[in-house]
Amino acid sequence: MSYATSLRCRKCGGEYPLQAVNLCDFCFSPLDVAYDYKSISKQISRQAISSGPNSMWRYQDLLPVDGPVVDIGTGFTPLTKCDTLARELGLEQLYIKNDCLNPTYSFKDRAVSVAITKARELGFHTIACASTGNLAASVAAHAAKAGLQAYVFIPADIETGKVVGTAVYGPTLFAVQGSYDKVNVLCHRLAETYNWGFININLRPYYAEGSKTLGYEIAEQLNWRSPDCIVAPSASGLLFTRIWKGLNELSMLGLIEPVNTHMHLVQAAGSSPIVNAFRAGALHVHPVEPHTIAKSIAVGNPADGYYALKAVRESGGTAAAVSDEEIIAGMKLLARTEGIFAETAGGVVIAGLKNMVRSGEIKRDDLTVACITAAGLKTQEVVSDVVQPIVIQPTLESFQESVEMSRTAAAEVR
Ligand SMILES: Cc1ncc(COP(=O)(O)O)c(C=O)c1O
Ligand SMILES: [Zn+2]
Repeated sequence: MSYATSLRCRKCGGEYPLQAVNLCDFCFSPLDVAYDYKSISKQISRQAISSGPNSMWRYQDLLPVDGPVVDIGTGFTPLTKCDTLARELGLEQLYIKNDCLNPTYSFKDRAVSVAITKARELGFHTIACASTGNLAASVAAHAAKAGLQAYVFIPADIETGKVVGTAVYGPTLFAVQGSYDKVNVLCHRLAETYNWGFININLRPYYAEGSKTLGYEIAEQLNWRSPDCIVAPSASGLLFTRIWKGLNELSMLGLIEPVNTHMHLVQAAGSSPIVNAFRAGALHVHPVEPHTIAKSIAVGNPADGYYALKAVRESGGTAAAVSDEEIIAGMKLLARTEGIFAETAGGVVIAGLKNMVRSGEIKRDDLTVACITAAGLKTQEVVSDVVQPIVIQPTLESFQESVEMSRTAAAEVR
């Protein structure tokens, strides 16, 4: 049995049963899963977790489902020490949390594995989502595994890799002619009309909880400590808040020391409503109209923006935006130095990290973790200029001739 006790309103504390509902009836604030932490603390230990499965489900005691879980092999992704990139950026200790290596190549598998398990428990036969692409693929894959019908709604202009990487699992796929924010509004209307499990609407409290496991894993993989700094990308803001929540839960349960992590949030300059609010010292996030190559995080009206901002402030972190050129340079830098091909959201993180080290917001000796949340094959088109092969005939002479030509050309440049 799960230790989840109810859904609780973030603002007024109103309690609701563990059903498919995401907003408080009284104050319209988001609902979160509440747990019986007292009982969890009697049950949980570092050792019990570490002897669990090599997946996010090693933290099942801290997740709101009763099982059996819908698991396609998500989580416990590598936390890789990155000395070459660290040297290049001027850091002493840098780790990449590589969530490219999830089954559908993004961190969304964490959130969806929990939400679909809950959807099945609640008796839904059809699930749905509004997505910028990564959630779409993950929902379609998990629905295939669980034998549920999936309706997936994406903006019509997202990258081919994401569309193919969703359609292959056989969902009913709708390409909506409008921005993600428009897709999201449409899905809210559909959620009022159809009795479906909308992963990021009526199932949002459960979906949110899956992302906590990213924070748990970072702490466990650092040998049960929380880093000095975490850098993470933000769209709706939810992932950012859940990494923070995950670390604080571990500390509350006595599994790690009190958390002193600075949470650093990065967005693309062309879609940076949370960063704008941070810079203005504002409490509230004003919507923008996104224009950026980082389509996965092009959310103009972030549902959890306020809470992400709160996590930045509580943790003594910062929020920064990076240009499309910096995003591409960040993707190439990560690939060239560490052999990790991230999508545009990863480029956002590396570019943001670079700027934060340069500005002194992240110090040289801060133990830093950069969250790479999805893989580069999903957004190949933005770095296609790297493809400049030397074309040769299948003969030794042709190869040697081409080597000679490139030597001569290099000598001429010198
Ligand atoms: C690759 C990637 N990183 C980060 C995010 C940010 O997620 P959130 O909406 O929880 O802020 C997304 C959201 O779609 C994403 O696709
Ligand atoms: Zn309320």
